[in-house]
Amino acid sequence: MSRFCRITGTGSYLPPRRLTNADLAAELAVKGIETSDEWIVERTGIRARHFADEGVGSSDLAAQAGLRALEAAGITAADVDLIIVATSTPDMVFPSTATMVQHKIGAAGCPAFDVQAVCTGFIYGLSVAHAMLQAGSARRALVIGAEVFSRILDFKDRTTCVLFGDGAGAVVLELADAPGILATDLHADGRHRDILCVPGHVSGGSVLGDPVLKMDGQAVFKLAVGVLEETARTSLAKAGLNEGDIDWLIPHQANIRIMQSTARKLKLPLEKVVVTVDQHGNTSAASIPLALDLAVRDGRIVRGQTLMLEGVGGGFTWGSVLLRY
Ligand code: UT7
Repeated sequence: MSRFCRITGTGSYLPPRRLTNADLAAELAVKGIETSDEWIVERTGIRARHFADEGVGSSDLAAQAGLRALEAAGITAADVDLIIVATSTPDMVFPSTATMVQHKIGAAGCPAFDVQAVCTGFIYGLSVAHAMLQAGSARRALVIGAEVFSRILDFKDRTTCVLFGDGAGAVVLELADAPGILATDLHADGRHRDILCVPGHVSGGSVLGDPVLKMDGQAVFKLAVGVLEETARTSLAKAGLNEGDIDWLIPHQANIRIMQSTARKLKLPLEKVVVTVDQHGNTSAASIPLALDLAVRDGRIVRGQTLMLEGVGGGFTWGSVLLRY
Protein backbone atom coordinates (compact mmCIF):
# COMPACT_ATOMS: atom_id res chain seq x y z
CA MET A 1 0.00 0.00 0.00
CA SER A 2 1.41 3.32 -0.91
CA ARG A 3 1.16 5.88 1.86
CA PHE A 4 1.00 9.62 1.24
CA CYS A 5 2.74 12.18 3.44
CA ARG A 6 2.04 15.86 3.64
CA ILE A 7 3.35 18.86 5.51
CA THR A 8 0.69 19.89 8.02
CA GLY A 9 2.56 22.69 9.78
CA THR A 10 5.65 24.87 9.46
CA GLY A 11 7.57 26.98 11.96
CA SER A 12 10.80 28.91 12.25
CA TYR A 13 12.88 30.89 14.68
CA LEU A 14 15.61 33.49 14.31
CA PRO A 15 17.70 34.62 17.26
CA PRO A 16 16.93 38.29 17.99
CA ARG A 17 20.45 39.70 17.48
CA ARG A 18 20.48 41.02 13.89
CA LEU A 19 23.59 42.37 12.22
CA THR A 20 23.41 44.34 9.00
CA ASN A 21 26.41 44.25 6.66
CA ALA A 22 27.40 47.65 8.02
CA ASP A 23 27.24 46.34 11.62
CA LEU A 24 29.41 43.35 10.71
CA ALA A 25 31.84 45.45 8.67
CA ALA A 26 32.28 47.78 11.67
CA GLU A 27 32.98 44.80 13.99
CA LEU A 28 35.48 43.34 11.51
CA ALA A 29 37.19 46.71 11.00
CA VAL A 30 38.16 46.70 14.67
CA LYS A 31 40.09 43.48 13.95
CA GLY A 32 41.68 45.01 10.85
CA ILE A 33 39.50 43.02 8.43
CA GLU A 34 38.18 45.08 5.55
CA THR A 35 34.79 44.44 3.93
CA SER A 36 31.81 46.50 2.86
CA ASP A 37 28.05 46.38 2.46
CA GLU A 38 28.60 47.04 -1.24
CA TRP A 39 30.85 43.97 -1.77
CA ILE A 40 28.61 41.63 0.24
CA VAL A 41 25.39 42.74 -1.49
CA GLU A 42 26.89 42.66 -4.98
CA ARG A 43 28.54 39.22 -4.64
CA THR A 44 25.93 37.44 -2.50
CA GLY A 45 22.69 39.42 -2.11
CA ILE A 46 23.10 39.26 1.68
CA ARG A 47 22.13 42.41 3.62
CA ALA A 48 21.76 41.07 7.19
CA ARG A 49 22.01 37.93 9.30
CA HIS A 50 21.06 36.84 12.82
CA PHE A 51 23.56 35.54 15.38
CA ALA A 52 22.63 33.57 18.48
CA ASP A 53 23.85 34.91 21.82
CA GLU A 54 26.46 33.02 23.78
CA GLY A 55 24.98 30.00 25.53
CA VAL A 56 22.20 29.56 22.94
CA GLY A 57 22.61 26.35 20.96
CA SER A 58 21.09 24.77 17.87
CA SER A 59 18.73 22.79 20.10
CA ASP A 60 17.32 26.04 21.55
CA LEU A 61 16.60 27.48 18.09
CA ALA A 62 15.30 24.10 16.90
CA ALA A 63 12.93 23.72 19.85
CA GLN A 64 11.39 27.15 19.19
CA ALA A 65 10.92 26.42 15.48
CA GLY A 66 9.60 22.94 16.27
CA LEU A 67 7.00 24.23 18.75
CA ARG A 68 5.77 26.75 16.18
CA ALA A 69 5.42 23.98 13.56
CA LEU A 70 3.50 21.79 16.03
CA GLU A 71 1.16 24.70 16.80
CA ALA A 72 0.59 25.34 13.10
CA ALA A 73 -0.21 21.64 12.59
CA GLY A 74 -2.63 21.74 15.53
CA ILE A 75 -0.84 18.99 17.46
CA THR A 76 1.32 18.73 20.57
CA ALA A 77 4.75 17.24 21.20
CA ALA A 78 3.08 14.11 22.57
CA ASP A 79 1.54 13.44 19.13
CA VAL A 80 4.94 13.25 17.41
CA ASP A 81 6.45 9.80 16.94
CA LEU A 82 9.66 10.75 15.12
CA ILE A 83 12.05 13.70 15.50
CA ILE A 84 14.83 14.40 13.00
CA VAL A 85 17.16 17.38 13.33
CA ALA A 86 19.44 18.36 10.46
CA THR A 87 22.44 20.25 11.79
CA SER A 88 26.19 20.61 11.32
CA THR A 89 26.48 22.67 14.49
CA PRO A 90 25.20 20.30 17.18
CA ASP A 91 25.18 21.37 20.84
CA MET A 92 27.58 18.55 21.69
CA VAL A 93 29.54 15.77 19.99
CA PHE A 94 26.84 13.55 21.46
CA PRO A 95 24.04 13.03 22.36
CA SER A 96 22.23 14.19 19.26
CA THR A 97 20.66 17.63 19.07
CA ALA A 98 17.38 15.82 18.27
CA THR A 99 17.28 14.20 21.73
CA MET A 100 17.83 17.62 23.32
CA VAL A 101 15.03 19.09 21.22
CA GLN A 102 12.80 16.18 22.18
CA HIS A 103 13.33 17.01 25.85
CA LYS A 104 12.96 20.78 25.35
CA ILE A 105 9.61 20.49 23.56
CA GLY A 106 8.28 18.10 26.19
CA ALA A 107 8.28 14.84 24.24
CA ALA A 108 9.78 11.51 25.31
CA GLY A 109 10.03 7.98 24.01
CA CYS A 110 9.85 8.46 20.25
CA PRO A 111 12.98 7.98 18.10
CA ALA A 112 15.05 11.15 17.72
CA PHE A 113 18.25 11.51 15.72
CA ASP A 114 20.34 13.98 13.75
CA VAL A 115 21.22 13.92 10.07
CA GLN A 116 24.39 15.61 8.93
CA ALA A 117 24.46 16.71 5.32
CA VAL A 118 25.44 20.34 5.94
CA CYS A 119 23.35 22.70 3.78
CA THR A 120 21.47 19.74 2.23
CA GLY A 121 20.62 18.47 5.71
CA PHE A 122 16.96 19.48 5.74
CA ILE A 123 16.38 17.84 2.35
CA TYR A 124 18.02 14.66 3.68
CA GLY A 125 15.99 14.82 6.90
CA LEU A 126 12.68 15.35 5.10
CA SER A 127 13.46 12.49 2.68
CA VAL A 128 14.34 10.13 5.54
CA ALA A 129 11.16 11.09 7.44
CA HIS A 130 9.12 10.50 4.29
CA ALA A 131 10.69 7.05 3.80
CA MET A 132 10.06 6.10 7.44
CA LEU A 133 6.43 7.23 7.29
CA GLN A 134 5.94 5.32 4.05
CA ALA A 135 7.50 2.24 5.63
CA GLY A 136 5.05 2.41 8.52
CA SER A 137 7.71 3.25 11.15
CA ALA A 138 6.01 6.49 12.17
CA ARG A 139 2.86 8.52 11.54
CA ARG A 140 3.87 12.06 12.50
CA ALA A 141 7.39 13.40 12.16
CA LEU A 142 8.89 16.67 13.28
CA VAL A 143 11.72 17.56 10.90
CA ILE A 144 13.92 20.51 11.81
CA GLY A 145 16.93 22.25 10.28
CA ALA A 146 18.85 24.25 12.90
CA GLU A 147 22.26 25.90 12.93
CA VAL A 148 24.51 28.24 14.86
CA PHE A 149 27.09 28.68 12.10
CA SER A 150 28.37 31.82 13.86
CA ARG A 151 30.19 29.39 16.21
CA ILE A 152 32.28 27.83 13.44
CA LEU A 153 33.17 30.99 11.52
CA ASP A 154 36.67 32.41 11.36
CA PHE A 155 36.07 36.13 11.89
CA LYS A 156 39.53 36.81 10.45
CA ASP A 157 38.51 35.27 7.12
CA ARG A 158 36.39 37.82 5.25
CA THR A 159 35.77 35.39 2.38
CA THR A 160 33.53 33.25 4.63
CA CYS A 161 32.52 35.10 7.83
CA VAL A 162 30.21 37.54 6.03
CA LEU A 163 28.17 34.76 4.42
CA PHE A 164 26.52 32.81 7.22
CA GLY A 165 23.88 33.26 9.91
CA ASP A 166 22.02 31.33 12.63
CA GLY A 167 18.41 30.11 12.70
CA ALA A 168 16.02 27.18 12.58
CA GLY A 169 13.06 26.01 10.52
CA ALA A 170 10.74 23.07 11.02
CA VAL A 171 7.91 21.11 9.47
CA VAL A 172 5.45 18.51 10.70
CA LEU A 173 5.12 15.68 8.17
CA GLU A 174 2.11 13.38 8.56
CA LEU A 175 0.57 10.39 6.85
CA ALA A 176 -2.30 11.63 4.68
CA ASP A 177 -4.99 10.50 2.24
CA ALA A 178 -3.47 12.44 -0.67
CA PRO A 179 0.04 13.63 -1.61
CA GLY A 180 2.03 15.37 -0.19
CA ILE A 181 5.51 14.54 -1.13
CA LEU A 182 5.69 13.73 -4.84
CA ALA A 183 9.39 12.85 -5.24
CA THR A 184 12.70 12.95 -3.42
CA ASP A 185 16.24 12.86 -4.82
CA LEU A 186 19.43 12.67 -2.72
CA HIS A 187 23.12 12.64 -3.69
CA ALA A 188 26.61 12.89 -2.22
CA ASP A 189 30.11 12.88 -3.68
CA GLY A 190 32.87 12.71 -1.08
CA ARG A 191 35.57 13.47 -3.64
CA HIS A 192 34.72 17.13 -3.09
CA ARG A 193 34.83 17.02 0.72
CA ASP A 194 37.70 19.53 0.98
CA ILE A 195 36.02 22.45 -0.83
CA LEU A 196 33.66 23.10 2.08
CA CYS A 197 34.53 21.72 5.49
CA VAL A 198 35.36 22.30 9.15
CA PRO A 199 38.51 20.18 9.33
CA GLY A 200 38.71 19.76 13.11
CA HIS A 201 37.78 16.95 15.51
CA VAL A 202 37.90 16.02 19.17
CA SER A 203 40.61 13.57 20.23
CA GLY A 204 42.17 12.77 23.58
CA GLY A 205 40.41 15.67 25.26
CA SER A 206 41.58 18.30 22.74
CA VAL A 207 40.31 19.79 19.54
CA LEU A 208 42.64 18.70 16.76
CA GLY A 209 42.77 20.36 13.35
CA ASP A 210 41.05 23.61 12.53
CA PRO A 211 37.52 23.89 13.96
CA VAL A 212 36.41 26.74 11.67
CA LEU A 213 34.74 26.76 8.28
CA LYS A 214 36.94 26.60 5.17
CA MET A 215 35.46 27.11 1.74
CA ASP A 216 36.69 27.33 -1.82
CA GLY A 217 33.79 29.60 -2.79
CA GLN A 218 34.28 29.46 -6.53
CA ALA A 219 34.53 25.65 -6.63
CA VAL A 220 31.37 25.37 -4.52
CA PHE A 221 29.61 27.92 -6.71
CA LYS A 222 30.40 26.03 -9.94
CA LEU A 223 29.29 22.65 -8.58
CA ALA A 224 26.16 24.14 -6.99
CA VAL A 225 24.71 25.67 -10.14
CA GLY A 226 25.06 22.37 -12.02
CA VAL A 227 23.62 20.00 -9.43
CA LEU A 228 20.72 22.25 -8.43
CA GLU A 229 19.35 22.14 -11.95
CA GLU A 230 20.03 18.42 -12.24
CA THR A 231 18.31 17.37 -9.01
CA ALA A 232 15.27 19.57 -9.71
CA ARG A 233 14.88 17.91 -13.11
CA THR A 234 15.29 14.44 -11.59
CA SER A 235 12.56 15.03 -9.01
CA LEU A 236 10.25 16.49 -11.66
CA ALA A 237 10.83 13.45 -13.90
CA LYS A 238 10.16 11.04 -11.02
CA ALA A 239 6.80 12.77 -10.43
CA GLY A 240 5.95 13.04 -14.14
CA LEU A 241 5.91 16.85 -13.95
CA ASN A 242 7.88 19.61 -15.67
CA GLU A 243 9.29 23.02 -14.74
CA GLY A 244 6.02 24.74 -15.66
CA ASP A 245 4.28 22.85 -12.86
CA ILE A 246 6.42 24.47 -10.14
CA ASP A 247 4.56 27.20 -8.24
CA TRP A 248 7.45 27.98 -5.87
CA LEU A 249 11.15 27.19 -5.95
CA ILE A 250 12.57 27.15 -2.41
CA PRO A 251 16.31 26.67 -2.83
CA HIS A 252 19.05 26.64 -0.22
CA GLN A 253 19.87 30.27 0.48
CA ALA A 254 23.62 30.71 -0.07
CA ASN A 255 23.95 33.32 -2.78
CA ILE A 256 21.34 35.21 -4.84
CA ARG A 257 23.46 34.65 -7.95
CA ILE A 258 23.20 30.84 -7.55
CA MET A 259 19.42 31.15 -7.12
CA GLN A 260 19.11 33.41 -10.18
CA SER A 261 21.13 30.97 -12.25
CA THR A 262 19.05 27.98 -11.09
CA ALA A 263 15.80 29.82 -11.82
CA ARG A 264 17.07 30.75 -15.29
CA LYS A 265 18.03 27.16 -16.06
CA LEU A 266 14.62 25.94 -14.92
CA LYS A 267 12.95 28.73 -16.93
CA LEU A 268 11.29 30.09 -13.79
CA PRO A 269 10.83 33.83 -13.24
CA LEU A 270 12.56 35.10 -10.10
CA GLU A 271 9.10 35.98 -8.73
CA LYS A 272 8.56 32.22 -8.22
CA VAL A 273 11.66 31.88 -6.06
CA VAL A 274 11.40 32.36 -2.29
CA VAL A 275 14.41 34.49 -1.33
CA THR A 276 15.50 35.01 2.27
CA VAL A 277 19.28 35.15 1.82
CA ASP A 278 19.08 38.95 1.89
CA GLN A 279 17.77 38.95 5.47
CA HIS A 280 19.12 35.66 6.89
CA GLY A 281 22.42 35.05 5.11
CA ASN A 282 23.28 31.38 4.64
CA THR A 283 21.82 29.41 7.57
CA SER A 284 22.89 26.03 6.15
CA ALA A 285 20.38 23.27 7.06
CA ALA A 286 17.94 25.87 8.42
CA SER A 287 17.67 27.94 5.27
CA ILE A 288 15.07 25.93 3.33
CA PRO A 289 12.54 25.38 6.16
CA LEU A 290 13.04 29.02 7.23
CA ALA A 291 12.19 30.21 3.73
CA LEU A 292 9.26 27.80 3.49
CA ASP A 293 7.78 28.98 6.78
CA LEU A 294 8.20 32.62 5.87
CA ALA A 295 6.35 32.23 2.56
CA VAL A 296 3.60 30.12 4.15
CA ARG A 297 3.03 32.66 6.90
CA ASP A 298 3.05 35.70 4.60
CA GLY A 299 0.44 34.00 2.41
CA ARG A 300 2.51 33.51 -0.74
CA ILE A 301 2.39 29.71 -0.48
CA VAL A 302 -1.13 28.28 -0.31
CA ARG A 303 -2.53 24.75 -0.10
CA GLY A 304 -2.49 22.80 -3.34
CA GLN A 305 0.58 24.52 -4.78
CA THR A 306 3.59 22.57 -6.06
CA LEU A 307 6.86 23.35 -4.29
CA MET A 308 10.40 22.43 -5.28
CA LEU A 309 12.72 22.38 -2.26
CA GLU A 310 16.39 21.88 -3.10
CA GLY A 311 19.69 22.05 -1.32
CA VAL A 312 23.41 21.79 -1.90
CA GLY A 313 26.36 21.89 0.45
CA GLY A 314 29.39 20.34 2.10
CA GLY A 315 30.17 16.73 1.47
CA PHE A 316 29.55 17.48 -1.39
CA THR A 317 25.83 16.79 -0.94
CA TRP A 318 22.77 17.83 -2.90
CA GLY A 319 19.15 16.86 -3.36
CA SER A 320 15.54 17.93 -3.74
CA VAL A 321 12.03 17.27 -2.49
CA LEU A 322 9.10 18.00 -4.78
CA LEU A 323 5.79 18.30 -2.96
CA ARG A 324 2.22 19.42 -3.15
CA TYR A 325 1.64 21.72 -0.21
O1 UT7 B 1 26.09 26.76 1.73
C1 UT7 B 1 26.90 25.96 0.94
C2 UT7 B 1 27.00 26.49 -0.39
N1 UT7 B 1 27.89 27.65 -0.42
C3 UT7 B 1 27.86 28.40 -1.49
O2 UT7 B 1 27.04 28.15 -2.35
C4 UT7 B 1 28.88 29.50 -1.67
C5 UT7 B 1 29.28 29.57 -3.11
N2 UT7 B 1 30.23 30.60 -3.42
C6 UT7 B 1 29.92 31.91 -3.43
O3 UT7 B 1 28.81 32.28 -3.09
C7 UT7 B 1 30.94 32.91 -3.91
O4 UT7 B 1 32.01 32.21 -4.50
C8 UT7 B 1 31.47 33.83 -2.79
C9 UT7 B 1 30.39 34.77 -2.35
C10 UT7 B 1 31.93 32.99 -1.61
C11 UT7 B 1 32.65 34.65 -3.29
O5 UT7 B 1 32.26 35.41 -4.42
P1 UT7 B 1 33.21 35.48 -5.70
O6 UT7 B 1 32.53 36.35 -6.67
O7 UT7 B 1 33.52 34.08 -6.10
O8 UT7 B 1 34.47 36.27 -5.14
P2 UT7 B 1 35.99 35.80 -5.10
O9 UT7 B 1 36.17 34.72 -4.11
O10 UT7 B 1 36.43 35.56 -6.50
O11 UT7 B 1 36.67 37.11 -4.56
C12 UT7 B 1 36.76 38.31 -5.36
C13 UT7 B 1 37.53 39.36 -4.63
C14 UT7 B 1 38.85 38.87 -4.08
O12 UT7 B 1 39.80 39.93 -4.24
P3 UT7 B 1 40.87 39.92 -5.43
O13 UT7 B 1 41.66 38.65 -5.23
O14 UT7 B 1 40.04 39.90 -6.69
O15 UT7 B 1 41.63 41.16 -5.20
C15 UT7 B 1 38.60 38.66 -2.62
O16 UT7 B 1 39.75 38.81 -1.83
O17 UT7 B 1 36.79 39.80 -3.50
C16 UT7 B 1 37.61 39.74 -2.31
N3 UT7 B 1 36.77 39.44 -1.17
C17 UT7 B 1 36.18 40.40 -0.41
N4 UT7 B 1 36.22 41.74 -0.47
C18 UT7 B 1 35.48 42.41 0.46
C19 UT7 B 1 36.41 38.23 -0.69
N5 UT7 B 1 35.61 38.37 0.36
C20 UT7 B 1 35.45 39.69 0.56
C21 UT7 B 1 34.73 40.46 1.49
N6 UT7 B 1 34.77 41.81 1.39
N7 UT7 B 1 33.97 39.90 2.46
